[in-house]
Amino acid sequence: MSDNRDIAINYAHQNHSSFIDDLINLVRIPSVSTYPQSKQDMFKAADYLADELRDLGAKNVQIFPTNGHPIIYGELSSGKVDSKTVLVYGHYDVQPPDPLDQWQSPPFEPEQRGDNLFGRGVSDMKGQVVASLKAVESIVKTGTLPINIKFIFEGEEEIGSVNLEKFIQDNKDLLTCQVVLNPDSGMIASDIPTIVYSLRGLAYFELRVYGPLHDLHSGVFGGILYNPAQALCVLVAGMHDQSGRITLPGFYDSVRLLSPEERREMLQLPMDDNYYLAQTGVKTLWGEEGYTPVERVGARPTLEINGLYSGFTGHGSKTVIPSTAMAKISMRLVPDQDPKEVHQQLINYLNQNNLPGIRWELTSLTGGPASITDRTSTETKALGLALESIWGRPPFYKREGGSIPVVSSMQKILGVDSVLTGFGLPDDNIHAPNEKLHLPTWFMGIDSLIHFFFNL
Ligand code: BES
Ligand code: MN
Repeated sequence: MSDNRDIAINYAHQNHSSFIDDLINLVRIPSVSTYPQSKQDMFKAADYLADELRDLGAKNVQIFPTNGHPIIYGELSSGKVDSKTVLVYGHYDVQPPDPLDQWQSPPFEPEQRGDNLFGRGVSDMKGQVVASLKAVESIVKTGTLPINIKFIFEGEEEIGSVNLEKFIQDNKDLLTCQVVLNPDSGMIASDIPTIVYSLRGLAYFELRVYGPLHDLHSGVFGGILYNPAQALCVLVAGMHDQSGRITLPGFYDSVRLLSPEERREMLQLPMDDNYYLAQTGVKTLWGEEGYTPVERVGARPTLEINGLYSGFTGHGSKTVIPSTAMAKISMRLVPDQDPKEVHQQLINYLNQNNLPGIRWELTSLTGGPASITDRTSTETKALGLALESIWGRPPFYKREGGSIPVVSSMQKILGVDSVLTGFGLPDDNIHAPNEKLHLPTWFMGIDSLIHFFFNL
């Protein structure tokens, strides 16, 4: 090849241990976006990334405060007039590490065991952020960039990117680009490079039900009133029918159906029942009848209980009727569902299912629509070839069940598509105890990003 990619890849191979050290430094900062007490750490992580960008020689590096956590920006130029500009997106926030007692090593003291690095955020997605930075470092330390690169790092992805859309709106010119690289998704398996072309949206709610004024003796008062814990169970249980369909009135009305071609294509993915049985450890799968697991996760909407709380949950027994109960409920949405409409459908469901003596309150927490990106664009092809150069086989294209709200915001406001990939694996335990990153795969990911930037 006439460009410098081989030299850049060689640089990457020489510097694996310093790449790991930099990732460890970032993972050490406990940037849990949902904790109010994390404010300082969020700024620490932002400062760390701004310094990394400056070390790369980035210009116009800025830390933008928001109503929530700061956004970091920086840019690097190819020095040529007609270069493409790619906007690299990342998030430096992580999910809470609980339950803490299930971690084999502390979540914010990364530990390498064998081929894996363990710590909160190593896979989702500090590892992917550092992979992008290191791919760029490998190029700029050994030559010149073939394209212009802008970086945007946010600190609120794991809580729904609440302040990002306004930032994009207010900084359209700054963010002008031809394509976004979003490495916040993952791979089907370590030998299967993966490009994600669709993400589900999200609508997240907190439902509280109330009954008596205060907790009651369950013997003295049991039998004369509806127990709020039972009420919550009844309401929540009624949200699915026997065939796994969601019962909220009108819920499926705007769901875009899969074409027969796409269904055929999805059948080719190496993700059958056994794949999901192995990933989850359950003995039997369950879900909407008439669809395969890959379809249900990628292209069908779902409703999940994310948390339940009521009454006495301590050690031993306490005979009590709780006065209140709470559930965290979220729905994964597909094109063309609208989070606001889904909110109304949930209200309608609750209104239609009144229970005696029970009052409810519903709060909408976060949400955003689903997205689909163009699989045939030159940029997606550039990424496909890059992955093929490293893995020796073309990537699989899949729909992802998780959500990344920025993708639809950028489509809507900047009019650009994101190419979505990432080098995490399904068994990385993201959002769970013992999150890990498979380092050999991560190194291959860095090499493939170097190819991607040159291919563009
Ligand atoms: N990186 C994940 C989404 C993801 C996971 C994509 C696995 C591909 C494979 C992302 O950080 C995430 O977890 N997002 C949240 C978003 C929500 C809070 C709006 C999610 O999906 O729950
Ligand atoms: Mn992520």
